[in-house]
Amino acid sequence: MSIQQSFPHSSIAIVGMGKGGTSILKLLLQITGATVKYICDTNPKTEGMILGSRIGITCLTELKGSDVVRDRSLNLIFEATGKKDIFEYLQEEVATYCTVIGAVGARVIYYLLDGQQKITEELQQCKLILSEKVMERTEELEKSNLELQRQINDYQELNKKLHQINEEKTKYLVNATHQLKAPFAAIQSYTELLLDGYADTFSEKAESILRKMKDRCILLSSSIKEMLELANLNSFLEENLQTDTENLDTILQKVVDSLHPLIKRKHMIVTFHSGKRPHIIRCNKKQIEALAQILLENAVNYSDPGMPIDILIKKDKGGRILFSVSDKGIGIDKKNLQNIFKEYFRTNRGVQKSYNGSGLGLAIAKRIAELHRSDISVDSISGEGSVFKIEFPK
Ligand SMILES: Nc1ncnc2c1ncn2[C@@H]1O[C@H](COP(=O)(O)OP(=O)(O)OP(=O)(O)O)[C@@H](O)[C@H]1O
Ligand SMILES: [Mg+2]
Repeated sequence: MSIQQSFPHSSIAIVGMGKGGTSILKLLLQITGATVKYICDTNPKTEGMILGSRIGITCLTELKGSDVVRDRSLNLIFEATGKKDIFEYLQEEVATYCTVIGAVGARVIYYLLDGQQKITEELQQCKLILSEKVMERTEELEKSNLELQRQINDYQELNKKLHQINEEKTKYLVNATHQLKAPFAAIQSYTELLLDGYADTFSEKAESILRKMKDRCILLSSSIKEMLELANLNSFLEENLQTDTENLDTILQKVVDSLHPLIKRKHMIVTFHSGKRPHIIRCNKKQIEALAQILLENAVNYSDPGMPIDILIKKDKGGRILFSVSDKGIGIDKKNLQNIFKEYFRTNRGVQKSYNGSGLGLAIAKRIAELHRSDISVDSISGEGSVFKIEFPK
C-alpha cells in the first residue's frame, strides 16, 4: 500500500539501520517521489540492510568518506544511529547542499508518516467494508427483484386463469339465456292465442291475468335480448368492428323516427340542433343506432309527459364530432353518477319512474362507445334533467 500524497522529489540516505532506520526505510519505500539511494550501517545483517540490498539500494558499512558524504545529488539524510558524533560529522560534510535530520527529528517524522499511513490503511479498510456492504445490498436487491418478478408472473398467470374462467362463465350464461329465449317466445304466443279467443272466451279477471302474463313475457324477452347483446359486445374485439363512413345526422333522425310512437304517446317534442353541414363519422351504423336509441329511450322514460328533449350534433374546436341527448326529466343523484354505466344498476327514482327496465341499456351504450374509441359521459342535476354526451375520435 502506498501513501498517495505527493512528496517533493528527494534523493535520500539513511544512516543507521537499526529498528528506527529500518522503520523509516519501510515508510519511505511507500512514498511516491522519495528515492532512498543509500543505506548505511556497520552491521550488514540488520533487517533494514537485508531488505535494502534485496531491492537494489546501495548498502554501505562504512560511512566516513563514502558516497553518502560525496554524492551531491543527495538532498536528505536521516541520521538514525542517535550518535552525536555521527550527526556532527554529517553536518560538517554535507551541510552546504543537503539537510541532515537527526534521530529525534527522524522519530518525529517517522511518527507523522506512520500516522498518515495508518489513516490511509483505515480509509482503505472503510472502502473495503463499504464495497462489501454495497455488494451485499446489491445481492439483496437482486434477490427481491427476482422474488418480485416471480410474484408478477404468478399474478399474471392467475389473471389469465381468472380471465378464462370469466369467459367460460359468460359462455355458459349466454347459452343458458339463449335457451330461455324460445320458451318465453312460445309462452308469449300461446298467451296471445288465448287472448285472441282461440280457446273459448275468458272471464274479465282471467283475461286481465293473461294480459299481465303477456306483458311480462314481452319484458323478459327484451331483457334476454339486451343480455345477449351485451354478452356479444363484451366478447367482440375492437379490431373486428366493421365501420363505414356515415352521416350521423341521418342515423339520429332515423332513431327518432323509429321511436315516434313512444314519443307521441308521452306528448313530447324532440328538437334537433345540428346546423347545415352534415356530420360525417366512421362507425358501425347498427351499433350507433342502438346507442342513440338507448339514450333517447331513457330520456323519454325518465321524463314526465310533455317535457322537451334536445339532440345536439356538432364539431368541437378540436375537430371532434359529438352528439348529446338532453332531457328535463328526473335527473340522477351525484352519488349515483359513477355507477350509471354499470350492468344492472338502476336508481330508486329510475325504478319508480319506469318499472320495466333491466339496467343494461347504458352498459351496452358504454361498450359501443368503447368499441368506437369514443367517450361517453353524463351531466345531471337531480330533479332537473340529464345530458348524455358521446364524443367521437377525430
Ligand atoms: N335520462 C335519464 N334520466 C334519469 N335517469 C336515468 C337516465 N338514463 C338512465 N338513468 C338511470 O340509469 C339507470 C340505468 O339506465 P339503463 O338504460 O342502463 O337501464 P334501464 O333504463 O333501467 O333499463 P334498460 O336496460 O331497459 O334500458 C336507469 O335505471 C335510471 O335509473
Ligand atoms: Mg334504459
